[in-house]
Amino acid sequence: MPLKGRNFLSTQDFTRKEIEQILATAAKQKKSGWKPLKSKPKLALLFFNPSLRTRSSFELAAWQLGGHAVTLQPGKDAWAMEWREGIPMDGEAEEHVKDAARVLGRFFDAVCVRCFPKFQDWTVDKQDSMLRAIERYAGVPVINMETIVHPCQELALALTMKEKLKKTDGKKFLLTWTFHPKGLNTAVANSAALISTKMGMNLTVLRPPGYDLDPMFMDQARENAKAQGGSVTVTDDIDAAYKGADFVYCKSWGNLNYFGRWEEEKKVREPYRHFIVDAPKMAKTNDAYVSHCLPMRRNVKMTDEVADSPRSCLIDEAGNRIHGQRAMLTEILG
Ligand code: CP
Repeated sequence: MPLKGRNFLSTQDFTRKEIEQILATAAKQKKSGWKPLKSKPKLALLFFNPSLRTRSSFELAAWQLGGHAVTLQPGKDAWAMEWREGIPMDGEAEEHVKDAARVLGRFFDAVCVRCFPKFQDWTVDKQDSMLRAIERYAGVPVINMETIVHPCQELALALTMKEKLKKTDGKKFLLTWTFHPKGLNTAVANSAALISTKMGMNLTVLRPPGYDLDPMFMDQARENAKAQGGSVTVTDDIDAAYKGADFVYCKSWGNLNYFGRWEEEKKVREPYRHFIVDAPKMAKTNDAYVSHCLPMRRNVKMTDEVADSPRSCLIDEAGNRIHGQRAMLTEILG
């Protein structure tokens, strides 16, 4: 089915069949190569936050499809941007997204956005206002390169799971919280919950008390599970969570009850360093594969022994970023 002209803001906007279509294109292109698109896609890559994998894989994918990507870092090498409507712009931002997005829409075939939460107020950040404003004004497809979800990472994860597990339906997917010296964005964890359930897996979220993901995403995961015949379990029982897991995905995220107050949260987070993914925990699984979106602090989130083990998919998943994104761009801009 044609996906041309669609935004790619969340995998929740796509049916499983549509996601499978993108994954099939990714697998085919990975195996047999790809053709440049007649449209020679021109991408604006707006990075409000740093990146290694996302930036390089999008720039390369645009080039591989015969197009071009221009990377802009608002507040660094491009003007800082305001999204709030009707306010006097007497702060840091030099231009309004209403103007910037419309200009980019004249130059480019798609606008791709990375804009993490501001970490001041989750009730504000969960509105994803900068992304939504760009969507409203750009007039061309808008692609989410990580805001409060990370759908491009989901494509790479799903492609990797299909390669390793063959069939994802009915498999146990363990999403485990891990310690980190800072409170981090919940985007990848939200996304892991969404894509695992969309792929028919039985999701277990292992997290210390207080580290629940936002109900908005957990409700979506439960809806996916219901539609695809999977299940959702939330627990702080490490042994039970690892037992029988087929795929272990680890990620740190901040406690939403202390959102942005990470120094205050530290005392709550500190007792849970033992959530690290290590060999004794992996031994309880069904010989599970293990992965992380990267970047990852070794021997804090996952031991070197696990990260460098034959079941580790860290580099395979990162490598699949370009295949997933090239396929998504092919479907949306082809
Ligand atoms: N996983 C991921 O998005 O990596 P970067 O932050 O390096 O882009």
